[in-house]
Amino acid sequence: MLIKRSPNGIDLPYPSEITPRAVFESRRSFIRQIAVGSIAGGAMLEMAGREALAQAPGAQKLTAKPNSSYVVMDKPTAYKDATTYNNFYEFGTDKEDPSKYGATLKPRPWTVAIEGEIKKPMTVDLDGLLKLAPLEERLYRLRCVEGWSMVIPWVGYSLAELIKKVEPNGNAKYVEFVTLADKKQMPGIGSRVLQWPYVEGLRLDEANHPLTLLTLGMYGEVLPNQNGAPVRLVVPWKYGFKSAKSIVKIRFTRDQPKTAWNLSAPQEYGFYSNVNPEVDHPRWSQASERRIGEDGLFAKKRKTLMFNGYGDVASLYQGLDLKKFF
Ligand code: MTE
Repeated sequence: MLIKRSPNGIDLPYPSEITPRAVFESRRSFIRQIAVGSIAGGAMLEMAGREALAQAPGAQKLTAKPNSSYVVMDKPTAYKDATTYNNFYEFGTDKEDPSKYGATLKPRPWTVAIEGEIKKPMTVDLDGLLKLAPLEERLYRLRCVEGWSMVIPWVGYSLAELIKKVEPNGNAKYVEFVTLADKKQMPGIGSRVLQWPYVEGLRLDEANHPLTLLTLGMYGEVLPNQNGAPVRLVVPWKYGFKSAKSIVKIRFTRDQPKTAWNLSAPQEYGFYSNVNPEVDHPRWSQASERRIGEDGLFAKKRKTLMFNGYGDVASLYQGLDLKKFF
């Protein structure tokens, strides 16, 4: 997201158009089997290639039930790619910085304060968050505004589960996510690349959408530090920067929160930041993307889908001009 120009992508065919026919046909029958419910969610991830996903030695395992309603048909990104190609500016701006320098982050003990326009303000620790609702595994696409994407098996539950518990009052219109900003744990906080703490926000109805995942793990384990340990958000129909990492406060507000990227470059990063191939970033096209670990630098890019393929969310934006409210 740094101010580097990405090469403009040429519009390219869907993977189905470039996949060998036999593979595509078997994928279609696989999709049919899912449609008739003959493959359970867990089996889907197995078939999608879990065996190829090595995990971190010694990381705490999380037991989560695969939720087949939230599984994309794409191949999951290899664990190594998902944990070494990161944006987490609190640890530096290079993609490898978070995995190189992330070890200083202490994900335990950890608390999240929940406050603002709610009837039941509370502070919850990590064990409380892990027990707040049954953990689910969901395979989501994550599309970064820089033009790359990944497919990650996250572990968590709908943020709506937590929202229900704190009972927003009639004034609550937005939810603000404030993340950790501690110089001792995060070497990048000394830099002025963004205003710290990194803050993100959603409209209350977006926060309540079942796709919005309060995320505590990935690949069957707790989150690695570089991916936002111990708790982050994942909002799969929005550009990746809306998915705030290492959250310490969730605040319900009347007014639209002032978010880190919008404050730094309002003409480039709007509040909504829905994935939209029809609205280009002022300095590059958003029509296509490169899948990390699959599409080499010189490979043809794949088409970016409206709302990153999560078309169900369109109803949240009826009557809203998505070009103006980008
Ligand atoms: N959260 C914090 N606190 N700091 C950050 O720099 N970067 C965002 C988002 N959340 C960021 C953050 C961006 S730009 C992206 S694309 C995603 O995290 C990347 O998530 P990943 O590294 O797990 O793929």
